[in-house]
Amino acid sequence: MINIAVTNEADDEPRIGLSPETAKKLSALGCKVKMLAGAGAHAHFSDNDYRNAGAEIAETAQDALKSADILLKVGRPNSEDLKDLKSGAMVVGILNPFDDRAGLEDIAKSGVTAFAMELMPRISRAQSMDVLSSQSNLAGYKAVIDAAGAFGRALPMMMTAAGTVPPAKTFIMGAGVAGLQAVATARRLGAVVTSTDVRPAAKEQVQSLGAKFVAVEDDEFREAETAGGYAKEMSDDYKKKQAELIAQHIAKQDIVITTALIPGRPAPKLISKAMVESMPAGSVIFDLAAERGGNCELTKPGETTVTNGVTIMGPINVAGQLPGNASSLYAKNLLAFLETMIDKEAGELKIDWDDEIVKGTLVARDGEIVHPSLTEETA
Ligand code: NAI
Repeated sequence: MINIAVTNEADDEPRIGLSPETAKKLSALGCKVKMLAGAGAHAHFSDNDYRNAGAEIAETAQDALKSADILLKVGRPNSEDLKDLKSGAMVVGILNPFDDRAGLEDIAKSGVTAFAMELMPRISRAQSMDVLSSQSNLAGYKAVIDAAGAFGRALPMMMTAAGTVPPAKTFIMGAGVAGLQAVATARRLGAVVTSTDVRPAAKEQVQSLGAKFVAVEDDEFREAETAGGYAKEMSDDYKKKQAELIAQHIAKQDIVITTALIPGRPAPKLISKAMVESMPAGSVIFDLAAERGGNCELTKPGETTVTNGVTIMGPINVAGQLPGNASSLYAKNLLAFLETMIDKEAGELKIDWDDEIVKGTLVARDGEIVHPSLTEETA
């Protein structure tokens, strides 16, 4: 029998790593799921929903954790979780491995086997486990909705007897998972949409959604995608050419949504103070990269500010603002990952330590930080 525990998340994290649907599927796989009472409430899942799905509700975190083989988290486990888990228990979550090294060392030292879901390799077999995709997709949608809410005008063109309302010009910077969803959402709302990216594969994807692609398409651009599908850090020369192009374009935009990220690095700065000042009063910048420092020079992570009449929004945990959907999709990502490790017949965990998805996500084992990208960093 495999014991799975779910405890509460930090106060600022409304998502949860187990949905009633995945509780039912894990029970069907022969696992015993024990969840702390009320832990799903922010995602609008009640204890009864979980009970009906076969989970047991624990009154204390300690009770949920005491015999757990696996702890399912959204964010990092807290010190209570680590204290109450047995050594060698598995912890799976979005562990933010490149920030707060000391906190990561505490996780390792506690003796748990920790998997960071955001390090999942981008291979087709792992698509259903890709938490960055499932969460970014929702964030891209919410970014447009919130930016539209903050924009004091309408998005679609309206022809009325009293005159014509022009469509809002919306520019999406970074056309990955979040950006493409933002393009699609802004198009559905009737905006005129343009988008940019440094990866050439993005051009066709943007165009297929009915938006115009804007980018410096030189030799460096043609080689800007890593084998893993991510962007590379661009040269200073490219960045200069890109900034010139963006400067002209941005001065005419009503809504700009930025989503540009480079794994393991701060977000590239794509919008300067001067560019903000060139934008029309009443326009809105929604910086989805705020958590990694922001794509706009003036973004204040976690805050909304106004400069020269331009509203700059730098929210944190945007997917968490749709906690029901975000939790359902995230829980499915975790289920897909666990399914590869559960031997249903034997009712036990069978981890293939040589599997690419295990090696790719394993960050701590036997008291040590083990992921190559994290051990090299300290060398
Ligand atoms: P991301 O969240 O790391 O970055 C967002 C976007 O910003 C990317 O498209 C990136 O190219 C772009 N960007 C970075 N620097 C930039 C700059 N200086 N200027 C403009 N744009 C910049 O990436 P995301 O969205 O997580 O994924 C990127 C791609 O990976 C996807 O579009 C897809 O093709 C691929 N992918 C593959 C998966 C799989 O096979 N399992 C799963 C998810 C995505």
